[in-house]
Amino acid sequence: MKKHILVVPGDGIGAEVTTVGKQVLEAIAHKFGHEFTYDEALIGHVAIEATGSPLPDETLAKMKNADAVLFGAVGHPKYDNDPSAKVRPEQGLLKMRKELGLYANLRPIKLFDELLDASSIKPEILRGADILFFRELTGDVYFGKRERLDEGNTAYDTMIYSKYEVERIVRKAFEAARTRSKKLCSVDKANVLESSRLWREVVQALAPEYPDVTVEHQFVDATAMLLIKDPKRFDVVVTGNLFGDILTDEASQIAGSMGMLASASVGDSTGVYEPIHGSAHDITGKGVANPLASVLSVALLLDISFGLKAEAQAIIDAVDAVLKAGFRTGDIANSSTSPDKILGTGAMGHQILQQLIP
Ligand code: IPM
Ligand code: MN
Repeated sequence: MKKHILVVPGDGIGAEVTTVGKQVLEAIAHKFGHEFTYDEALIGHVAIEATGSPLPDETLAKMKNADAVLFGAVGHPKYDNDPSAKVRPEQGLLKMRKELGLYANLRPIKLFDELLDASSIKPEILRGADILFFRELTGDVYFGKRERLDEGNTAYDTMIYSKYEVERIVRKAFEAARTRSKKLCSVDKANVLESSRLWREVVQALAPEYPDVTVEHQFVDATAMLLIKDPKRFDVVVTGNLFGDILTDEASQIAGSMGMLASASVGDSTGVYEPIHGSAHDITGKGVANPLASVLSVALLLDISFGLKAEAQAIIDAVDAVLKAGFRTGDIANSSTSPDKILGTGAMGHQILQQLIP
């Protein structure tokens, strides 16, 4: 198969982890006889520094022309405590999602057995947990009208959804539920919010088209609690942009670390694959970032954008084997990990490559 992949490292540890992700793509191409070509582009803080824009037109054009995008992270601490900054790295990410119509963000939360003791949640609660989140990605308070009033002393953001936006993400979640355990949990705050009442109405209207899927509605506060109390009760979960952002960071602890979680953003145009973690400037350049979220993002890319299931599985098996061999990055190590098994970013990548091409 011939495919063109755009690598967009972005900020912070994005460059370190996508370097490993690209090496894994190369190993897969070699092992399975594919031909992947690559290009790179800027986004986020590095793009602001180089061009003044967090998403240069050139980057957007390259994204639209690629068969898939392997993405790193965006963000820079310099903006975090400066609410007045008009140009911000995250604007690049949000504009990319909107311009590419990436309305569905898939975040699989799957715990590798070897990491049962890497989480702060008890192993007996976690064992067997396997959740697939569908987070809506181009609506909600992220894109609603926002404004300062009253000489800057009052501010508002608008939580807004239209029926078609809810329908298309909920359909994707129903379809996925069909291929899994046929359970769908829709999360909203319909006891308070009008946009949530619309959300629930849409889910209820679609449910008869999927009679084989059992639907449960939950309020987001209850979901936040139940994810920790009993993660195994969930299978496919669908929710809005803001609730999905918060719940998936929480759910990352089920998988042991944010450093393990990959995501796929898909919709009308090129799919974008990225870790759910951020730019992590506190560890940038130290070579200690966990590259496995980027490696697992490559597996999602091959599976979802290219339909290469065996290739995706080979990557997951390689991660499994490396963890079984006892290798860990710092974020997934614990007090019983022997120091010689704690690897940096490149060395962990090397172990994965060794599994793929012995
Ligand atoms: C994510 C991130 C982004 C979001 C930030 C960086 C804008 O947290 O992809 O989950 O809130 O969507
Ligand atoms: Mn987030």
